[in-house]
Amino acid sequence: MSKILVLGGSGFIGRLVVSQLVEAGHQVVVPTRQRDRAKHLLILPTVDVVEANIYDQVRLTQLANGCDAVINLIGVLHSRSGVPYGRDFAQAHVELPKVVVGACRAAGVRRLVHMSALNARTDGCSEYLRSKGDGEAWVLAQQKNLDVTVFRPSVVFGPEDRFLNLFAAICHYLPVIFLGSAETRFQPVYVGDVARCIVACLSNRDSLGRAYDLCGPKVYTLRELVAFAGFESGHPRLIFGLSKRLSHVQAWSMELFPGKVMSRDNFRSMQEDSISDEPMPFGVVPKALATIAPAWLRGNAPRSRYGQFRFRAGR
Ligand SMILES: NC(=O)c1ccc[n+]([C@@H]2O[C@H](COP(=O)([O-])OP(=O)(O)OC[C@H]3O[C@@H](n4cnc5c(N)ncnc54)[C@H](OP(=O)(O)O)[C@@H]3O)[C@@H](O)[C@H]2O)c1
Repeated sequence: MSKILVLGGSGFIGRLVVSQLVEAGHQVVVPTRQRDRAKHLLILPTVDVVEANIYDQVRLTQLANGCDAVINLIGVLHSRSGVPYGRDFAQAHVELPKVVVGACRAAGVRRLVHMSALNARTDGCSEYLRSKGDGEAWVLAQQKNLDVTVFRPSVVFGPEDRFLNLFAAICHYLPVIFLGSAETRFQPVYVGDVARCIVACLSNRDSLGRAYDLCGPKVYTLRELVAFAGFESGHPRLIFGLSKRLSHVQAWSMELFPGKVMSRDNFRSMQEDSISDEPMPFGVVPKALATIAPAWLRGNAPRSRYGQFRFRAGR
């Protein structure tokens, strides 16, 4: 059994990573800004949830002490704007990885797994992607002192995602959909498969110093994904694609809505297809969206309405 510190373990991907680590017999420490947000983890037998400010290097070093690996899943989708990226992106995607590396070195932890995103590049097409790209490049440059593995998923789907569930909720409320960036292509990957890759890399020496794209088996346009979510949730809708200019205006106007469903920076991220021809690593066979997502989109899964509740509550 090893002890693993999972930053962002309370989130959508993190909770699956944590439960698979527990299943594999590991002891897991999950820091959170608010213990309440991680209450779903408290019932897991070998998980320790602690309230902590992970940007404080001394505190993070204390948490990393005695751990065999650190997994960093922290990421934000929205930020105040800036050049080359806004403050919130800089803090979560660039400054935090530096604090994490510093804490690993101070605590003598060699193994670090870092979550980036597909298309992340220093010269990426959005602030989100540029900041993710800088964080990823910095972490990968630490090979001399650390054993690093980076993951770069396309959009991730699962029963509690803010992606298919959001589309299903939009189809529920709107009779007709006017869709921005409708022809952008994605290769959605199942959250359970992402978690399996993260857990598998911990015992795979070939993964040291490598970055892996994580994508599902099929490419979809955004239009196809919204149509799929609408149809499977029982609300098939007519979808009209918007021009690039109108897509930008739509993203701008949606910044004013509570819960920030969409922003101009998200629109910029969608100017590039989120696809890759790299196969999934570690022998993981990616699950197909069309075979598993209907179970929760049709409301058959116990937690299938969480997305709708969150959408309504603006969370
Ligand atoms: N979901 C996707 O489709 C997708 C696609 C590509 C890449 N990724 C990347 O995968 C990672 C995990 O994504 P996710 O969807 O699981 O995210 P998520 O559900 O938003 O979870 C992120 C976690 O990070 C913590 N967190 C968020 N903002 C923070 C901040 N400013 N300071 C400190 N902690 C903060 C939160 O923990 P507490 O609230 O408990 O503190 C939260 O549980 C991120 O790096 C994301 O960029 C996700």
